[in-house]
Amino acid sequence: MYQYDEYDQRIVDERVAQFADQTRRYLAGELTEDEFRPLRLQNGLYIQRHAPMLRIAVPYGNLNSKQLRTLGHIARTYDRGYGHITTRQNVQFNWPRLEDVPEILDQLAKVQMHAIQTSGNCIRNVTSDPFAGVAADEIVDPRPWCEILRQWSTFHPEFAFLPRKFKIAVNGAKEDRAVIRVHDIGLDIVHNAAGELGFRVLVGGGLGRTPIIGEEVAAFVPWQQILNYCEAILRVYNLHGRRDNAYKARIKILVKALGVPEFARQVEEEFAHLKDGPSTLTQAEIDRVAGRFNDPVLSALAQDAGYRARLAEDKAFAAWARRNVRNHRVQGYASVVLSLKPYGVAPGDLTADQFDAVAELADRYAFGEVRSTHEQNIVLASVREADLFALWQEARAIGLATPNIGLLTDIISCPGGDFCALANAKSIPIANAIQDRFDNLDYLFDIGELEINISGCMNACGHHHVGHIGILGVDKNGEEFYQVTIGGDQGNQTTLGKVIGPSFAAAEMPDVISSLINNFIDNRQDDERFIDTVRRIGVESFKTRVYAERTARLEAKEIAHV
Ligand code: HEM
Ligand code: SF4
Repeated sequence: MYQYDEYDQRIVDERVAQFADQTRRYLAGELTEDEFRPLRLQNGLYIQRHAPMLRIAVPYGNLNSKQLRTLGHIARTYDRGYGHITTRQNVQFNWPRLEDVPEILDQLAKVQMHAIQTSGNCIRNVTSDPFAGVAADEIVDPRPWCEILRQWSTFHPEFAFLPRKFKIAVNGAKEDRAVIRVHDIGLDIVHNAAGELGFRVLVGGGLGRTPIIGEEVAAFVPWQQILNYCEAILRVYNLHGRRDNAYKARIKILVKALGVPEFARQVEEEFAHLKDGPSTLTQAEIDRVAGRFNDPVLSALAQDAGYRARLAEDKAFAAWARRNVRNHRVQGYASVVLSLKPYGVAPGDLTADQFDAVAELADRYAFGEVRSTHEQNIVLASVREADLFALWQEARAIGLATPNIGLLTDIISCPGGDFCALANAKSIPIANAIQDRFDNLDYLFDIGELEINISGCMNACGHHHVGHIGILGVDKNGEEFYQVTIGGDQGNQTTLGKVIGPSFAAAEMPDVISSLINNFIDNRQDDERFIDTVRRIGVESFKTRVYAERTARLEAKEIAHV
């Protein structure tokens, strides 16, 4: 994992001191609400439904055990005993007191963390593949590139006041696990025909009010030029992005308005001035940054016979290994996903004790390192096969070994109406009610891969558009309702879901999901996944089934009433 150098540390320390003074002046009445707002937002501090919300940056999802312990300490000391992993791999605390935030930031700085640029119209935390550096299908480790982008974008004076927030994601593997197609800039690390390294650049993706899949603006940008090229994109956006209308301010709207060829032409024009300029990367710079990653040096181990024997004799362990363990690039190792989706817990929540316990697991079994995922889980990247059984037992003891990764109950959910001031409807209780309905593991395994994503409003923090089943909270005359989409997907075939029809009341949602699943089971061929059945047969039969069963339920209720 990346280790700060003295510049990184100084930048963060100076910011802590500045913000401590700004908060002091605000509390003393020397700064008005309006003066303080941009200052607190520059430090990740929102004012939410019940309390301030502090968003802490987790660069491309990488955390070490020391940082986890600090997060646990913050949860215990300054919050209500838990924290939340977000779909942008960050960590949020929902209940800090404003007075405590300077102290929290100070403690974070001591473990090389901060909340800078987690809010505001700037380049936000760069996200990436949680299996970066260890994935069996990796082409190039994206982390040094993410780190270079982080350093370049942090406090970049030209990009501090963009028309709107700006998100960059980087993928270095064959299978895109960073959802680069729904980011403002999506970077795919590739080799060209001559075998040279570079980036395929996608622009203008995003969810929210107007969901759009990003499109390619450059098939190959040589690695030396990638910052110059991104700078060119940002300049075009900074110049022409809509500042008059917040809803139309994201780069995706500009790209749509201009059309990709015209947008690409303008970027090329800007790039012609920037090419080979001061931001041009050199091998020495790549080596400098890559050299600050203190990754364990792994050499292949013999496949572990004990692991294989356990798999054969312990059904529960085998079920967990099947869902939560991934192949590793180095033989004898595996990557493990700890599920933050046990029954009855808000998706992505970790208690203070769990933060500490995960730190302990990381130290003991995973070289002291973890990654947060945009599905709101945690990955231990490198675990010896020989340790998997012991790790599973310990993860189970702390409630993080639900064998449901990629299954129906591994739900992505935004905080929704329980916490968020922008919500139209609650999200977490819907997730919990669906988990409750589908609590039979054998049935879950039988249903197979299925992603349910829930957002409490059209801002789409819960990525509902790209869920195989997407649920969106809508407001109807002051009441909470839910609109359902199906057929969305992430990864190489990123697709936006289609609305199946009129929205539902909260209490109907588990039944609606049951109808969708039953229709899938009746129509699937062999081991087809839900998403593939939807793609093959279309939305119509799902729609018909859901509304027919709903009418039958409502009629049955009426009869029962008479
Ligand atoms: C509770 C405080 C939160 C507030 C006030 C908030 C606000 C917003 C807003 C206004 C947008 C729309 C931006 C736009 O399209 O221009 C947005 C998008 C987004 N938020 Fe949040 N959010 C909150 C929490 C979260 C959480 C907890 C997550 C993760 C679980 C999250 C992840 C995202 C993501 C991934 C998007 C991107 C959608 C896109 O591609 O445009 N947010 N948020
Ligand atoms: S989707 Fe809406 S309700 Fe959910 S966290 Fe984002 S802004 Fe809040």
